[in-house]
Amino acid sequence: MRAFGDVWRSNIFQKWVMALTGLMLVLFLIAHLTGNLLIFMGAEHMNEYGHSLRELLHGSAIWLARGGLLVAFVLHVWSAILLTRRNRAARPQKYVKTDWRTSTMASRSMALSGLLILVYVLYHLAHFTLGTVHSQYYAGQTGWEYTLANGTVVPDVYRMVIASFQEPLITTLYVLSMVLLGLHLNHAVASAFQTLGVTNRRISPLVRFLGPVLGIGVALGFCSLPLAVIAGLVH
Ligand code: HEM
Repeated sequence: MRAFGDVWRSNIFQKWVMALTGLMLVLFLIAHLTGNLLIFMGAEHMNEYGHSLRELLHGSAIWLARGGLLVAFVLHVWSAILLTRRNRAARPQKYVKTDWRTSTMASRSMALSGLLILVYVLYHLAHFTLGTVHSQYYAGQTGWEYTLANGTVVPDVYRMVIASFQEPLITTLYVLSMVLLGLHLNHAVASAFQTLGVTNRRISPLVRFLGPVLGIGVALGFCSLPLAVIAGLVH
């Protein structure tokens, strides 16, 4: 029992938890981005997609996915807090000299960008899922229904996203958050693979490449929605 407790509290275990949950969250982001990009195909495609997700396995698939996502998110934040606190405790005095080669700007700001992403996710859920902020654009309100080609009436998620991003303040908040997310991923992906021991000489250069590719790809992909709306390319 004690041995289990020691493993549970060990730094390496916490790093594994952070790496594995982080990779799960990246998979969610890629899936979410793919769904969001349907906005460029029009209201029918995006609303049909949202509806099928809600209906999958008689509505239970979305709750299973939400449960898994919540567990991964909580474990990720929890291990990040534990590891940051331990690192601080082990290094009570700030380094006099900073080594700019090994400590990139992104790595030093991981805790801060992570915290801001957490704030963004809470705001995002209040915006699109619960409709408690910017409620005038909420797809769940009466009068915002969309009728699919097969006659099913669904909440007009397409209209909610477009109407929201027509407000420059909302677009600015989203774009800034996506840039932060990109910076966070840029550093996080390489460190996750390092923690998981993927340091093989042939794979390492690929892994180093994957962080910036994912960081820039995810940030640009998500930013393309608010920017296209504000530029009037989708309406
Ligand atoms: C342009 C950027 C984004 C747009 C347009 C967007 C849009 C949406 C929409 C329409 C929903 C579904 C609301 C509903 O019907 O319940 C949603 C849910 C969600 N989004 Fe985003 N999203 C964006 C970026 C992000 C990012 C970057 C993250 C994570 C860092 C994120 C995390 C989530 C989560 C966790 C949910 C809740 C999933 C659920 O409970 O069903 N989104 N988003």
